[in-house]
Order: sequence, then structure tokens, then C-alpha cells
Amino acid sequence: MSAEVQITGGPLVALCAAADVQPDAPVRVVQDTEAYAVFSLDGRFYATQDQCTHGPGSLAEGFVVGAEIECPFHQGRFDIRTGYATAAPCTQALRTWTVHPIDGQLFIDPTEHRGVER
Ligand code: FES
Repeated sequence: MSAEVQITGGPLVALCAAADVQPDAPVRVVQDTEAYAVFSLDGRFYATQDQCTHGPGSLAEGFVVGAEIECPFHQGRFDIRTGYATAAPCTQALRTWTVHPIDGQLFIDPTEHRGVER
């Protein structure tokens, strides 16, 4: 499968296989200069920036607690679905991308950024 697919709107880029993402094991994917954390939650997939907005923590190496990801550095938390910070010391939301599952692969539009100004 090509790494780039056009559906509607901008070009989509494959992050990884859906089967690679387990509910308690987010996956870190680097595309160009951006590192993403990919999550499986309640049968849906979500993508956020991998780096914590509080510091250098990799959220894909964090701990899934319900619908939240806990940063492994200082235990701040974010809502996986929205990117909103939910526990101190984190206050700034994560950027998030809509995940499109297609033929067993997970795609995003890298140019989409939600939650930059929160
Ligand atoms: S680096 Fe993530 S909570 Fe501090």
C-alpha cells in the first residue's frame, strides 16, 4: 500500500497498522519532523503529539488510565480524545489529529492541527 492516500481534502499519510495499537500500549510514530502518539480507546483510534506539553516526556511511553494518558515524567495527564490537559503539572493541550482507519492501516492528515490554542 502506498504511504499516501487521497480521500477528501488533504493527502493522508499512513502512521501504522491498526493491529499494532493496543488499548494499553500506545505507539510512537515519527513522520518527517513530527512524533505522534497513536492510541486505541473504546474501539476508536486517536493521534496526539507524542511530546508532553510540559516537558520532554514521550506520551507513547506513558500509562493509559481510562480515557487519559499519564506522562511518564511528572505524571501529568491529558484526555486522549481531545488533547486537553486534565492533571497538573500539564496545562497546555496536545495537538490532535483525526485518525482514518483504512484497510487495516491508520491514516492522518498531517496538516490538520486541532487544539493548538487552548
Ligand atoms: S514532562 Fe510530562 S508532565 Fe512533565
